[in-house]
Amino acid sequence: MRTTVGIIGAGPAGLLLARLLHRAGIDSVVLESRDRAYVERRQRAGILEQGTVDVLREAGAAARMDREGLPHDGIELRFARRRHRVDFPALTGGRSVTVYAQTEVCKDLIALQLAEGGPLLFEAEALAVEGAESENPRVRFRHRGREDTLDCDYVVGCDGFWGVARTAMPEALSRVYERTYPYGWLGILADVPPSHDELVYARHDRGFALLSMRSPTVTRAYLQVPDGTDAADWTDDEIWDELDRRLETDDAWRLARGPVTAKSVTPMRSYVHEPMRHGRLFLAGDAAHIVPPTGAKGLNLAVGDVVTFARALVAYREKGDASRLDAYSDTCLRRVWQAERFSYAMTTMLHRAPDATPFDDRIQLARLDRITTARSAETDLAESYTGFPLDQQD
Ligand code: FAD
Ligand code: DHB
Repeated sequence: MRTTVGIIGAGPAGLLLARLLHRAGIDSVVLESRDRAYVERRQRAGILEQGTVDVLREAGAAARMDREGLPHDGIELRFARRRHRVDFPALTGGRSVTVYAQTEVCKDLIALQLAEGGPLLFEAEALAVEGAESENPRVRFRHRGREDTLDCDYVVGCDGFWGVARTAMPEALSRVYERTYPYGWLGILADVPPSHDELVYARHDRGFALLSMRSPTVTRAYLQVPDGTDAADWTDDEIWDELDRRLETDDAWRLARGPVTAKSVTPMRSYVHEPMRHGRLFLAGDAAHIVPPTGAKGLNLAVGDVVTFARALVAYREKGDASRLDAYSDTCLRRVWQAERFSYAMTTMLHRAPDATPFDDRIQLARLDRITTARSAETDLAESYTGFPLDQQD
């Protein structure tokens, strides 16, 4: 099998890249190790930055998002039983975010790819990337029990944190920056209308809580839990009781409960692999970097990477200008490190570490106090949360 761009992984990064290339008249093949139902059901992110929304529209992949996505103009911070709203458009010159689940983005992109785009092979596991330094890199893969080779001009590893593409980077060139956190998130989906019309991020002495949503009738919520927690250890009532405690305010706000339909635990990690390119092998999304979920940057970073790659390849093919392909890693890493900074800051401001001292608690409250009283600090949060325009950065 032969193609111009071999894409490993059909998460948001791989699927969007295939779509962008198709729109630019560049052929690609996507290899995905799991089956379609699994990819479409995997519960993950829910918040799209303004720039991600704009890219999906430009890619002709936004029809359902524009009908069903929920535009959000702010978030609420809760701490010390108080509430503070951060008004995004007022602080950022009009930017906002959209609540539209990663599952739905993937479903929309899969349907478009199968209807209009190049091959998208499910249950096709990449085994190795070979010849990254040559003109013709290859992906060895297994599809329905048979081994095959995909010959490419470029390979883009969009195969997530546990994928194979990163392992093809020479060890001598690789630098890894990493941090783990001694807690994770217990996430639920529940059939009950969200109890607040915007997302609520709560800092509490018992730990962090986040109230989110998937639609006007479905609540998504998260609780900070100790590392190693099994979701099955928490009954539905215990989860609602704990959300109630951590989200409590001094006013009449009340949390509405409903049937829990899904429950899972996500570990937290910060991770960056540098560089993101070697020869004709490029890494994009979680294959190259992970952020802790506080601040909802993971999916949006993946989008930024593949937009940068697609634009760079188009510039090379149309104008013979290789400078953007050459700058791919540096361009992406600048945005990646800003997201790492923001996700780390949000995580450490809102979660209670098991060894937290009263001093640490006071610092967290002082950071929140600063955001809620100094416009410059609040603006920094709003700009980082809504994301910076992609075209200013590549
Ligand atoms: P992925 O979505 O991981 O896609 C990689 C794809 O590659 C997968 O489909 C995988 O099956 C496939 N693959 C892997 N290996 C191979 C192989 N060898 N051959 C072929 N295919 C392969 N972000 C947020 O902003 N908010 C959240 O609440 C949130 N929750 C998360 C919960 C979990 C459990 C995880 C893991 C991540 C979460 N994230 C969240 C992060 C966000 O979902 C990711 O940043 C985003 O999915 C990255 O997209 P991606 O396409 O780079 O990688
Ligand atoms: C969601 C996830 C996040 O990481 C976040 O910061 C906000 C919302 C969500 O899944 O709804």
